[in-house]
Amino acid sequence: MQTQMWTVDKNVDNLKTYPHIIEAAQKLKQNEVVAFPTETVYGLGGNAENDEAVLKIFEAKGRPGDNPLIVHIANREQIHSFVKKIPDQAAVLMDAFWPGPLTIILEKKEGALSEKATAGLSTVAVRMPDHPIALAIIEASGLPLAAPSANLSGKPSPTTANHVADDLTGRISGIVDGGATGVGLESTVVDCTGEIPAILRPGGVTKEQLEEVVGVVTVDPALKDSNQAPKSPGMKYRHYAPNAPFYLVEGTREEIQQLVNEKRMESLKVGVMTTKENLEFYDADIVIPCGERARLETVAEALYDTLRAFNNENLDIIFGEVFPEQGVGQAIMNRLSKASGLPIIEK
Ligand code: TXA
Ligand code: MG
Repeated sequence: MQTQMWTVDKNVDNLKTYPHIIEAAQKLKQNEVVAFPTETVYGLGGNAENDEAVLKIFEAKGRPGDNPLIVHIANREQIHSFVKKIPDQAAVLMDAFWPGPLTIILEKKEGALSEKATAGLSTVAVRMPDHPIALAIIEASGLPLAAPSANLSGKPSPTTANHVADDLTGRISGIVDGGATGVGLESTVVDCTGEIPAILRPGGVTKEQLEEVVGVVTVDPALKDSNQAPKSPGMKYRHYAPNAPFYLVEGTREEIQQLVNEKRMESLKVGVMTTKENLEFYDADIVIPCGERARLETVAEALYDTLRAFNNENLDIIFGEVFPEQGVGQAIMNRLSKASGLPIIEK
């Protein structure tokens, strides 16, 4: 399959009627799949009402069929065709954070949407992205769009069109290149089907921000305890993994350097993931800074690009620094532990 690349400046006026956007929307209406930027990561969009389109998404990504997709909308009216009701707390969250990096789980109307998009569940994940290109494509297609992150399953999510092209060229109809995404981590997934909203996946909107508008919010205990089944099916899979074993180290930079030295004595090629503040400190085969520790949002923004960069280096082992689990640090540590898949080394 030939993958078309459309370059679009997100700042042009009237994106909805911009020729490349119309073309991309046309493909979506024909039940083809197209990648486009959102404010979090690039998504791989397809008609959420059509089984054939949804199957194409799962096939292109190599995604397990039991992992449901997020349905993307451009205005609140679109929800009513596929959601049973909007509980008060959900409405409050929509008012506060939409468009934005918050996905809300609601009860699905029976028979609405492709069963494959929701993996046969009675609920549906909904999000209104805060990106002019994503919104223009949804509007121009007139469809609710199922859109997982536009990476091969298991790889880090894409934050540039090049990341998408590396993973999916030849497997999808097109990519709308709208530049680098902003937040860098996926949306926060919040279940609003129970009495108290529950975070199933930490992300762009922090627990603290949610609690400011709806009061108490719980966090799915499975996020911390690997013996429990996560309520968000996607959270059970290893994700974002670099090719080499990747160890997170809770310790000082001197202690991390010591680990590097030991491995290099064994003739291993060693990488270190740090931040700008410590870049000059380490001596290893490759040292990659991921944003600035003093500004965690810059770490989030650079995280997936950094994880991908390690894969160009043919390393035997990678050591990474940990971050405080506050604010966006929760989502950063969630993604880093998934990328590692190994116990944290405590010094
Ligand atoms: O920022 C984002 O959310 C990006 C952009 C493209 O919008 N999308 C994204 O989609 O991260 P994906 O498919 O990579 O992750 C969706 C997550 C998965 O963990 C999935 O299991 C969960 O949402 N999910 C979807 N529907 C669900 C449902 N009905 N109940 C519980 N979890 C659900
Ligand atoms: Mg994903």
